[in-house]
Amino acid sequence: MCGIVGYIGTDKKVPVIIDALKRLEYRGYDSSGIALLMEDGSVVIEKKKGPISVLESELTDIWNSDKVLLGIAHTRWATHGEPNDTNAHPHTDCTGRVAVVHNGIIENFQHLKDMLIKEGHIFKSDTDTEVIAHLIEKYLKETGNPFEAFKKTIDTLEGAYALAVIIADEKDKIFFVRQQSPMVIGKSDKGTYIASDIPAILPYTRDIMPLEDGTYGYIDGKEVVLFDKEGNRIPFTPIKIDWDIESAEKKGYPHFMLKEIHEQPQTIQDALRGRIDIAKSEIVMPELDSLVDKLKTAKKVYITACGTAFHAGLILKYLLKTYTDLSVEADVGSEFRYMPWDLSRDKDDSIAVVISQSGETADTIAAMRLIKSYDIPVIGIVNVVGSTIYRESDVPLVINAGPEIAVASTKAYTNQLIVGYLLAMYIAKLRGFIDKQFEHQFVSDMLALPNLISTVLGVEETVKDIALNIKDSSNIFFIGRLLDHLINMEGSLKLKEISYIHSEAIQAGELKHGPLALISEGTPVIATVLQDRVKEKQISNIIEVRARKAKTIVLGYRDDIEAQSVADMFIGLPRIDSLFAPIAGIIPLQLLAYHVAVMRGNNVDKPRNLAKSVTVE
Ligand code: M6R
Repeated sequence: MCGIVGYIGTDKKVPVIIDALKRLEYRGYDSSGIALLMEDGSVVIEKKKGPISVLESELTDIWNSDKVLLGIAHTRWATHGEPNDTNAHPHTDCTGRVAVVHNGIIENFQHLKDMLIKEGHIFKSDTDTEVIAHLIEKYLKETGNPFEAFKKTIDTLEGAYALAVIIADEKDKIFFVRQQSPMVIGKSDKGTYIASDIPAILPYTRDIMPLEDGTYGYIDGKEVVLFDKEGNRIPFTPIKIDWDIESAEKKGYPHFMLKEIHEQPQTIQDALRGRIDIAKSEIVMPELDSLVDKLKTAKKVYITACGTAFHAGLILKYLLKTYTDLSVEADVGSEFRYMPWDLSRDKDDSIAVVISQSGETADTIAAMRLIKSYDIPVIGIVNVVGSTIYRESDVPLVINAGPEIAVASTKAYTNQLIVGYLLAMYIAKLRGFIDKQFEHQFVSDMLALPNLISTVLGVEETVKDIALNIKDSSNIFFIGRLLDHLINMEGSLKLKEISYIHSEAIQAGELKHGPLALISEGTPVIATVLQDRVKEKQISNIIEVRARKAKTIVLGYRDDIEAQSVADMFIGLPRIDSLFAPIAGIIPLQLLAYHVAVMRGNNVDKPRNLAKSVTVE
């Protein structure tokens, strides 16, 4: 997804801006560009399709120049117009004195473009963004005041946008606005910074303010001037970011994804922190204090999320249905809004859980806002503190996974599960469905998870052998039942998104109803056998695919001789209660996806066509 950077201050501008831009690479992009305001009042623009290194090679002459006063830059993920040099940001007006970088979509751009063309403006690109530069030009002519022109422009725009803007008439200001697209502002003794995301500017400042929707203003190298959506001046109120910059780097692993998989024993511990009273062996969730009455009396839970986070939501649904009397609905964010039911019918008896790593997924945010419009309280299971879902949910439950850089989500998923398990059991306890003995056992099993996951990571060599065996397949199927099927869904998503191999997770009992026709000699079938209550049925499904000469890769318990006996290849986990199987079982599936993708020579951390944070619908 697009990334924005802006800097004005005493450091050399170009190195700071390009370094910050590179820290946004994980969001996914197809082109990048920079606009620099020079001492003589000219605006220098460079933009290139491809990696930032291509842009960088165009900047050697200006790299250390003292004549650069300020700059803005952008990584683009195409939405309007194909990825090429012309459509890359920044975009300029007819005079070349206004430069704009934009994240989001301008919904009324066609209408504005037609109007501006009629007025004589000449457009160069196919983007929606270019209208912004021409609008500023128009209003600048009308008002003669750059800030007023900027303000009038944002009042004219409809849609989602975060903008950073240079207007050459103002040599010491970068204008910005945030409207439904993330943006943060930072300040240090060396200047002021704009970025789409915190990691971009962390090496330069830890005093960072995530902006609310509608906030606009400018930075001038010393001050941050801010206005709220009503136009009232508001103070710059940064939060101290205590993330370790090291943790945003690879720490010796070849890819962020592998590093993040191996971090899970630690991140799981971080998710548990403060949510278990070890002395009393009890779940404690003080964050939920304001919702206790509602959690006791509600009749219905709505769960919404996208992708991997939705898979975590499905497991939460399973747990709530198993351990409480709540009726539970789980739908992907992109559909939730369009479901024809009437939320007002049971709004007084409902709560909602919204799950998102980034907290910025457009579809999830839209679903959350719809839910909130009915006054249904929203619990946000979220990783990024300060993100939209973090701020707008009634109770954010932060999963504490730390920055997740790889596009394929791994440690955020397990932490979403951890918080989901705690939430489900906490609600079950409030509603009187679990007793003390069950709670103590649950707590002790949860506390044992970090060590268990360290042990499970030991299967990596076995998984590598399996990856080598299946890496050239065209189709890979996963079969499982109940919770095993739900983790297979996530394992299959992981595999397809980074290996580009077609893969499906099938409920094992459904094989005979159609998918069995796809199984032929040598087809890899990954069969998860971690749910004791359906084990016998699952074994007979494995026998069924073996009879069609499928290659069976069984994920089961080390001590399960029967599961091993139907496996061509076997991944053995330590014996645990089936309830916790998703948390342990997903680890080998993440590793399998990773090693298959590496063996196929794919760009593991940034798979084709995908972005880390999907901030458009
Ligand atoms: O940031 P979010 O958790 O809201 O993102 C949701 C999905 O876009 C995300 O989980 C996506 O499916 C991942 N690439 C999966 O690895």
